[in-house]
Amino acid sequence: MSHDTTIRLDVSRVFSDAVGEHGLDEKALEALAPAAAAAHEAVEGARGTGMLGWTELPKSTEAVERSREVWAKVGDGIEDLVVFGIGGSALGTTCVATALLHPMHNHLSREARGGAPRIWVLDNIDPDWIAAHLDFIDPAKTVFSVVSKSGTTAETMSQFLIARKMLEDRLGPDYSRHVVCTTDPEGGKLRKIAADEGFETLPVPQGVGGRFSVLSPVGIFPAVATGVDVETLLAGAAAMDERCRVADMWKNPALLQAAILHALGAMGVNIHVMLPYSQALRDYADWYKQLLAESLGKRSARDGSVVHAGPTPAKALGVTDQHSQIQLYTEGPFDKLITVIEVEKFSGSLPLPSVYEGIEGVSYLGGHTLADLMAAECAGTQVALEQGGRPFNVLTVPEVNARVLGELFAWAEMAIAYGGELLNIDAFDQPGVEAGKRAAYALMGRKGFEELRAELEGRAAPSPKHLL
Ligand code: PA5
Repeated sequence: MSHDTTIRLDVSRVFSDAVGEHGLDEKALEALAPAAAAAHEAVEGARGTGMLGWTELPKSTEAVERSREVWAKVGDGIEDLVVFGIGGSALGTTCVATALLHPMHNHLSREARGGAPRIWVLDNIDPDWIAAHLDFIDPAKTVFSVVSKSGTTAETMSQFLIARKMLEDRLGPDYSRHVVCTTDPEGGKLRKIAADEGFETLPVPQGVGGRFSVLSPVGIFPAVATGVDVETLLAGAAAMDERCRVADMWKNPALLQAAILHALGAMGVNIHVMLPYSQALRDYADWYKQLLAESLGKRSARDGSVVHAGPTPAKALGVTDQHSQIQLYTEGPFDKLITVIEVEKFSGSLPLPSVYEGIEGVSYLGGHTLADLMAAECAGTQVALEQGGRPFNVLTVPEVNARVLGELFAWAEMAIAYGGELLNIDAFDQPGVEAGKRAAYALMGRKGFEELRAELEGRAAPSPKHLL
């Protein structure tokens, strides 16, 4: 394994011998080794089957080939790619764009973008926000990518309905080239609509749930359209996947992460903070937050017992959060594991000019670079966490590039899959979001939800005492 191209995980400061009584006793982790090995065996045994179809994605060329084919058909002269989707149908795409496109991508000229379209990932339905985007784009030069595995998600379908009308009004009947649907390969309402309307389609393969779909056409199509090096992204994921074939947790970075999180959970450390020191990885923390929350936050174990399991994910950003959340992390309750992501090399370093030599408190900055300051602040936070007796681990990435991002995706996905096994829960369903969805359907008058609507409308109004 070359350390120049691979992410490294340092867990030394998770343990009590480094951070004191609130750290993990290494023996307690060792005691978890058989359970970790069993979790590994379960994931290995289920690879490519059931809801573990996503384990096949890094080595498959299908998503890239199909995405290139579709983009070749619809991409000519396109200035804007608007992605409609939510949750797992959006967060991976946002993460890839933030990490791998130029930070000013959407503000650059077409030429400076290398001919790629601007990209807008609309994962909310705030009417003002949606209207602002639709006012901005020119429908004749836009592709709307509608991403919904189920094909019935109200938020995504509503966005699509608005865009479709806009296209029809502005372009007449010949608008089908402007819509691409990524959805279930066989069934679902969106697939039917796409077939009826003649839209291009891409599949969300079987066994790939939304939050595990970033390396399927869900994430690969927008990445292809915007010129991301998708082959290297997948190669990075495949390399990490290979590192995860090992059952020994001390050699498998995802299994070790899962075991640590699990062991700390047993000590009441129930918050997992992802803290990248990199603006480019800001949305990786957001993507990870959903992956953890929807996968591990469960009421019931597989045996039906009520467990209310799952650590709470939190996202943070270095250095921004040094002036926000870090105070809490270093001095607040001992309820967090913090994963610091440290970047060894930025594309540029930005020298700090030596001016104000006579002004102590400012002059020391001169002669360094912003990259030096970033590294010093990342190291400083680690010192503060250590001194505060806070367990944390450090993921070192050589630089933010397609390969590293692929590794980071696979690392987290495998860690969460192992985490589900350790908790004995189904990491691939999301029953807890159904209640809210059903209530919204009822309130919007969807057929079949009349009874629920009546029930909701009949709910007692809050007492005046509770209305301030
Ligand atoms: O991870 C998940 O499964 C969810 O977050 C889904 O991605 C989200 O609910 C959107 O679902 P769909 O793709 O069916 O529209």
